Amino acid sequence: MAKRVVLAYSGGLDTSVAVRWMIEEWGVEVVCVLVNVGQDADSSESFDDIKARALAAGALDCVLVDARAEMAEEFCASAIFANARYEGKYPLVSALSRPVIVRHLVDQARKFNATAVAHGCTGKGNDQVRFEVGTHALAPDLEVLAPARNWGLTRADSIDYADKWNIPIMATKDKIYSIDENLWGRAVECGAMEDPWAAPPEEPMTLTRVRNSEPVELTISFSEGLPVAIDGVDMALADLIKVLNDRAGSTGFGRLDMVENRRVGIKSREVYECPAALAIIGAHADLEDLVLERDVHHEKARLETRWAELVYDGFWFSPLKEALDAFMADTQRHVTGDVRVLFQAPGMMRITGRRSPKALYDHGLATYDAEDTFQHADSEGYVKIYGLGVKTWAARQGAKNATPPSS
Ligand code: ARG
Repeated sequence: MAKRVVLAYSGGLDTSVAVRWMIEEWGVEVVCVLVNVGQDADSSESFDDIKARALAAGALDCVLVDARAEMAEEFCASAIFANARYEGKYPLVSALSRPVIVRHLVDQARKFNATAVAHGCTGKGNDQVRFEVGTHALAPDLEVLAPARNWGLTRADSIDYADKWNIPIMATKDKIYSIDENLWGRAVECGAMEDPWAAPPEEPMTLTRVRNSEPVELTISFSEGLPVAIDGVDMALADLIKVLNDRAGSTGFGRLDMVENRRVGIKSREVYECPAALAIIGAHADLEDLVLERDVHHEKARLETRWAELVYDGFWFSPLKEALDAFMADTQRHVTGDVRVLFQAPGMMRITGRRSPKALYDHGLATYDAEDTFQHADSEGYVKIYGLGVKTWAARQGAKNATPPSS
């Protein structure tokens, strides 16, 4: 009996060619799984069109899974808790969707009695790592196949291959950009952007084209770490992300242009569009400034970096990531309140206020006015002892550079 493989199918050229290629070269049966993680924003194709293509390529079946709510409520939510930005910038757009897809691939592999899963990634990127490490974490018995790492086809070869097998593809030989998108944003690569000095073209951008010269001011309300309303209107997280992508993105906010370190040792120039992700994380981190106790806050900042690295590197399903999630979740119990945010073209975001019933900000302690409740005299002994070690050091050994250079 032929080996059965469940393929993560996007409907695009590479995964369509992968169906036929695996059948021809490896003699396997292929089931396609298309996981909707919010990439359908302005797609001109219906699922029926995509399924027809998978079947034309030779798939036994093509299953559509709607994982948008799961993507938002589990994956984006955890990223918000952790203020997750790889290398301090990138909010893990593609890195967050791969474990969602992996979980459904494994689930469908069980349903179809498959012994392997497959993906269409090449050998140069992070996504192969995320698919494979993720699959091994959930299903150590399943094999992972990566046809695009074996076939050695150029884009033009793939188009010829699709033509030869009558696979109805939309791709043309002059496609310029590689775009990956989901609810959390878009990653745009290739074309002119492969020169890190070249300014990114506007043409492939959708979320961050400036289309509103008026400032946009809004209030994001958080409950226990998650955004739950905009301007007092409650929304499910997936909807709130969409609204913010539109409103913040209309002023050009949310475009990131960066050179990042891939897991496989390559530096790559990446352009991201992620207005909602950056707005939510910015507002969330600001609210944490108001409500988190200092030591928790400082330790959390250190662990946030680690969390983002783990997820970027494909360790969504791993014991350290699970333990860090437990820490992050514990810190979110009091992260409740409102943050007011102003967006202004081209691409500026500024936080103009924050408030919380759980605020640790104490006006009496902070004020310089007459309502001051702080006991100034208490500081005298505190500061003396706090600096005692340095004072002793200065008296016995002398501080270096004590004399200004000009004297
Ligand atoms: N460099 C980003 C990441 O590793 C974006 C990857 C985009 N993926 C793609 N298949 N085009 O998360």
